[in-house]
Amino acid sequence: MTPARVLMNFEVTATSHTLEAYRARGGYQALEKALRTLKPEDVTQMIMESGLQGRGGAAFPAGRKWQGIDPYDGQPHYLVANADEGEPGTFKDRWVLEYSPHTLLESMAIAAYSLGARHNFIYIRGEYDLPYRRLAAAVEEAYGAGLLGENILGSGFATDIFVFRGAGAYVCGEASSLLGSIEGSRAYPRNRPPRMTVSGLFGRPTVVNNVETLSTIAWIVDHGAAAFRAIGTPTSPGTRLLSVSGHVRRPGVYEVELGYAWGRFLHEDCGGIPGDRPLKAVIPGGISSQVLTGKDAKVLTADEMEGLTLDHDVLRKAGSSLGSGGMIVIAEGTCMVRLLQIMLRFYHHESCGQCTPCREGTGWMHRIIDRIVAGDGRPEDLERLYTIARANDGTTICGLGDAAGYATVAMLDNFGDEFAYFVEHKRSRHQGNIECPAS
Ligand SMILES: Cc1cc2nc3c(=O)[nH]c(=O)nc-3n(C[C@H](O)[C@H](O)[C@H](O)COP(=O)(O)O)c2cc1C
Repeated sequence: MTPARVLMNFEVTATSHTLEAYRARGGYQALEKALRTLKPEDVTQMIMESGLQGRGGAAFPAGRKWQGIDPYDGQPHYLVANADEGEPGTFKDRWVLEYSPHTLLESMAIAAYSLGARHNFIYIRGEYDLPYRRLAAAVEEAYGAGLLGENILGSGFATDIFVFRGAGAYVCGEASSLLGSIEGSRAYPRNRPPRMTVSGLFGRPTVVNNVETLSTIAWIVDHGAAAFRAIGTPTSPGTRLLSVSGHVRRPGVYEVELGYAWGRFLHEDCGGIPGDRPLKAVIPGGISSQVLTGKDAKVLTADEMEGLTLDHDVLRKAGSSLGSGGMIVIAEGTCMVRLLQIMLRFYHHESCGQCTPCREGTGWMHRIIDRIVAGDGRPEDLERLYTIARANDGTTICGLGDAAGYATVAMLDNFGDEFAYFVEHKRSRHQGNIECPAS
């Protein structure tokens, strides 16, 4: 059976990102269909029926989010595509931006029609240079062809898309701080309520969706909600883009049908682990999703780990998530203490400092792990790490503090013996490091 493809369904060439190539593979037919045959609320209903879940991390149903906006209430509404992609290990949105930017633009025009959004933004991380240039060129092409701007395709519908470049802070990917960044203020996450669909950008109803979530819209409108539901599993419909890094022979971006066998994905699609080293662990959805292991694990045996399928429910039950789709494969021989050190350095550096438990807690955890790695760990350090990590749970405005805490707890739960060894012997149990050996 040919694997189902929603986004990676064409051959990448030197020109496949252009409007001409996109149109040659059927691009902008879905926009035409939406504008000519569907009412705005029909589109939202279709997305609702498709069961599409957000691909930015939390897997929140896209249709339900859109239903929070009444396209006819006479207020300005905004749609924002989150292309910040700052989660370590995650580079799957980049694939869309670089190789098929028109998929995102077409999908956003359809979403804007459904939400009654006259102005739309794409917030793209500043480090993404080629994706930005391709996206900006695609926006110009779309305006030139009457696919954006006034009276799109002669339908009377008008909408504009602005590309906004971020300046390199992880927290800007958090939806509410992203809006602050667009408004020109400091990118601090905002408390909810009010939800962003009530008061978002410039205080107006706003939908923020991930690039992959939005890019899927054109396919759903083109093929119908039932066709989308026919892919994947009943509770996790469709496909997901996964960016794979770490100890695999073939790192890169893959599209998998949800429910795909993880063991097969690792060994066949990604080519297995270099040097055929045994698998030690996997971080399935960016470092903010909890590490999973079949080794000495309290949750999964090695067989259960190999038998996992890639879908939201299965990974949730296993104690983790597909998160941002940034899968990091970890081979036996990797020092988890040093890996956690790198993770905590990141969270400490990226905490915006607004909430005390996150600002202080990530710093404390970072300093403790630095001390352990320097050979100055104390027997009480592991318990202290647990206490600080748990103190973040639910006590911060955004998910950064939670994520730093959950990721730490999962590492300690699964690899506590390795941390204890480091403290006692003042060195790693492994000769190896976290570099990927040549395959
Ligand atoms: C610290 C932090 C960083 C985030 N970074 C991103 C990001 O780079 N891209 C993204 O789509 N969502 C990111 N999110 C999640 C967004 O807040 C939001 O849930 C998402 O953009 C909604 O899109 P979706 O419903 O389509 O998944 C981040 C969340 C947090 C707490």
